[in-house]
Amino acid sequence: MNAEYEIRRRIDERGKITFAEFMDVALYWPQGGYYTGREPVGAQGGDFYTSPAVHPAFGALLAVQLFQMWQHMGQPSTFPVCELGAGNGLLSRDITSYAAELPSGFSAALRYVCLEQRSVDSLESGISGTSRVLADGLPFKNLQGCIISNEYLDAFPVHQVVLAGDVLKEVYVGLDGQHLVELTGELSHPGLAKRLDDLQLQLEPWQTVELNLELGSWSRNVTAALDRGFVLTIDYGRPAPDLYDPEQRHRGTLVTYHQHVQTDSPLTLIGQQDITAQVDFTSVTRAGETAGLDTLGMVTQREFLGNLHLDKLQQYLRNHSLTPQQMQANRAGITDLVRLEGLGDFKVLIQSKNGGSPNLWGLTSSPEAADLVERLPVPLLTDSHLSLPDGRNIGGETEFEVFWPFPDIASETPPDS
Ligand SMILES: C[S@@+](CC[C@H](N)C(=O)[O-])C[C@H]1O[C@@H](n2cnc3c(N)ncnc32)[C@H](O)[C@@H]1O
Repeated sequence: MNAEYEIRRRIDERGKITFAEFMDVALYWPQGGYYTGREPVGAQGGDFYTSPAVHPAFGALLAVQLFQMWQHMGQPSTFPVCELGAGNGLLSRDITSYAAELPSGFSAALRYVCLEQRSVDSLESGISGTSRVLADGLPFKNLQGCIISNEYLDAFPVHQVVLAGDVLKEVYVGLDGQHLVELTGELSHPGLAKRLDDLQLQLEPWQTVELNLELGSWSRNVTAALDRGFVLTIDYGRPAPDLYDPEQRHRGTLVTYHQHVQTDSPLTLIGQQDITAQVDFTSVTRAGETAGLDTLGMVTQREFLGNLHLDKLQQYLRNHSLTPQQMQANRAGITDLVRLEGLGDFKVLIQSKNGGSPNLWGLTSSPEAADLVERLPVPLLTDSHLSLPDGRNIGGETEFEVFWPFPDIASETPPDS
């Protein structure tokens, strides 16, 4: 019984199912759900790529941020870091490898746990201090460390609501003959209207928005698992007023990905394409505060990596004897991590529980971070990462100069050009 069969069976039984239920089965049904038994992200093939695959500088600078959190917590002898939705484990590998370069015994204290709801061929096996747990959610308690995720919340099922004339309706999936079709009906859950009220959103006629009703329970689980420490969430999304702006996003932000092509046809290719929507960071922040987390700040990925001195890693590439192709591939990867209208626009939200209000290096630029990163080696692309100039049509000095965000070194001529 594959995912599409299960969707049709439920519709036969009940007439229609909410879009959120459709998305849940299409992505996570044990037989043939999109995220079941496949690796959608990665250097070879896949349907989309994420920051860990783009360049190991992403994991390296996250390691630097985790190092500061560990220092702030008094350098405990064990420092658990739980990564939610860790996928193939590439980020864990980059973070734990780079942790070995950091001072004061950080690497020995780091206990990295990859949590994933599906069984995947993973890259992190065999790395000391890293373990993989097959779990739907966060089955831990009393953590004194950090809960981290990259592109995890955007994979949660979302409800869709639309202002049909002047009546708020929910989007359902039903059948017209043999064809799956979208229908509208009464709201399936009071939380939908409440979310719009809480956000003081007045939809325009026929405006569609996606709402994730699982944020509250997710925030409660995270808060319950953590005794003391931090929650670091990276994803694409926006604060609610921007995300739900009818001028810019009248049809919502739901998209599908199949073999690197983005469309908005979720009812086709069931189980073969990713379905995702941008994250409402206002609701994530509020759900966290309701559950007992303090919001320390939110910046773009471009600001976060800039504050952690990605520029220095880029600059010191020249100290390595790389071929021109390797140099260009590393430079393009680093640049892509902070590209505007791309990964650079992602948001990095940091929350804490019983963690005080430290000035975190990723949120505010600091000389301490600069001093540390200056002394660290440059992480280089491996076979597990993408090679952007080969993999996509992005290479070339023009791209590099256009996208490079650090004006102080933008004018330098790279050594191989
Ligand atoms: C878009 S992928 C991102 C993977 C990885 N973090 C990366 O950056 O490449 C989302 C991941 O979250 C996982 N996931 C979704 N819901 C989950 C849940 N409730 N518990 C554990 N993992 C989950 C999916 O299986 C998938 O691997």
